[in-house]
Amino acid sequence: MSFLANLNWRYATKKFDTTKKVSDTDLDKIIEAIRLTPTSFGLQPYHFYIVTNQEIKDKIQAVAWNQPQVGTSSHLLVFAARTDLATNKEEFFSLISGGNPEVRAMLKGYEDMVDGFVAGKPTPESVLPWSAKQAYIAQGFALAAAAELQIDSCAMEGFDPTAVGEILGLPESQKAVVMLPIGYRDVSENPRPKVRFTKEELFTEVK
Ligand SMILES: Cc1cc2nc3c(=O)[nH]c(=O)nc-3n(C[C@H](O)[C@H](O)[C@H](O)COP(=O)(O)O)c2cc1C
Repeated sequence: MSFLANLNWRYATKKFDTTKKVSDTDLDKIIEAIRLTPTSFGLQPYHFYIVTNQEIKDKIQAVAWNQPQVGTSSHLLVFAARTDLATNKEEFFSLISGGNPEVRAMLKGYEDMVDGFVAGKPTPESVLPWSAKQAYIAQGFALAAAAELQIDSCAMEGFDPTAVGEILGLPESQKAVVMLPIGYRDVSENPRPKVRFTKEELFTEVK
């Protein structure tokens, strides 16, 4: 099927078939799509958790309004936004310079610009809205990649982020912002028809 046909095929799946598991090969493709997500300045201010432990999935379901797509999923992807921006920036410049001080010196203009951005977000609270947006883009990539593989999923923000952080033992510098349970739809599922505003309602051409 084409990309658009797959986007029409997918829907927010509420219950997965617990006898069917996503293969490692397909999971790797979704992970790679997430890894390739573009981010502001390229900083990738996030970390991802892939939960297959049933007990942990059940605990997370309990703090997610008991939504069954969590516990019945094959894999539960949790998207955590980082709030340690200065450390994140340091890691990134170390990566793109290959740890070479001369290469890093050549990147000074770029690094100075990013330093200015970092200085403008001095607290975790000021970083989170920005890093969370990047995590949501990653979720969109994962959702589209899953659809391409005819793997069902459900984007979710209906959960208690603090409780999920405690269950997963997230460090202070990471906040769970969005989740994506994936798997294969249960036979009892009734895929809902797409409800979308029209092209005319959503788009304005500026010629
Ligand atoms: C950021 C985000 C958060 C969402 N949170 C939930 C959720 O917690 N539970 C749920 O059942 N669906 C959730 N949804 C699914 C939406 O309700 C669904 O995508 C929307 O109604 C469109 O339907 P479709 O995905 O089936 O096309 C969420 C979707 C997005 C994008």
